[in-house]
Amino acid sequence: MSANVNTIEKSMPEAVPSELPYKRVLLKMSGEVLMGPNEFGLHPETVARVARDIQEVVDMGVQVCVVVGAGNIFRGVSGASQGMDRTAADHMGMLGIVINALCLQNALEEIGVQTRVQSAIRMDEICEPYIRRRAIRHMDKGRVVIFAAGTGNPYFTSDTGASLRASEMNCDLIAKGTKVDGVYNADPMKDTSAVRYEKVSYMDVLTKDLKVMDATAISLARDNQIPIAVFNIREEHNFSNIVKGEGTFTIVGD
Ligand code: GTP
Repeated sequence: MSANVNTIEKSMPEAVPSELPYKRVLLKMSGEVLMGPNEFGLHPETVARVARDIQEVVDMGVQVCVVVGAGNIFRGVSGASQGMDRTAADHMGMLGIVINALCLQNALEEIGVQTRVQSAIRMDEICEPYIRRRAIRHMDKGRVVIFAAGTGNPYFTSDTGASLRASEMNCDLIAKGTKVDGVYNADPMKDTSAVRYEKVSYMDVLTKDLKVMDATAISLARDNQIPIAVFNIREEHNFSNIVKGEGTFTIVGD
């Protein structure tokens, strides 16, 4: 595990092919994705597979930034429900995100994808601090920027962190990688008659409580007119498929 981050820099593919609808995409995935078949923590093969999926999109000439959660390590909300102070529990969750971000960075650089991790909570010896204009510059150079530590504040989720960063980065799409291939009218894991929506409005997600992302995240995406593609990230190539507008997913929009 030893890629030299500053010697394998490769330049951004010339231009975004005109047929691609998206120039800059934020990938949001839960921490659980990175634990693969395990009950907890990080599963190296799964992290490597996710890294290859991200590489496919970078190689298409699309700018990519990533936000991960930390449910595979620690969940602030469940810590608080077990009696912990919510702020302390959320801080632990944000540190969990940093662990996931560094792991994903390592996996991406192993396969030659240039990355920068920027944290919302300063930890300068480990990664860069979050600086908006610098993040944009990194992406303009073809680097994948992994935003760590959520919004840097307790009482917010990593989904809200994703919506916030996607808004700040002027992303054209939030690709929300989940366990299921879209948004359903009922939980498809529990109800076999559940029907998947092709498209659903932000307002329906909020009023029908469709559990795509929390309400703050959805509202922010709506205010900034960023569509959200909900897709199954557990299947290989799905990320590049949805960026091409192919495969199975649900679009959340107006
Ligand atoms: P350019 O401005 O495009 O040259 O970007 P760059 O990120 O290559 O420039 P810089 O010389 O600032 O960074 C070189 C390396 O140091 C990169 O791997 C950065 O991720 C890393 N780096 C920069 N700032 C920090 C920081 O505050 N903390 C940590 N841990 N690493 C940093």
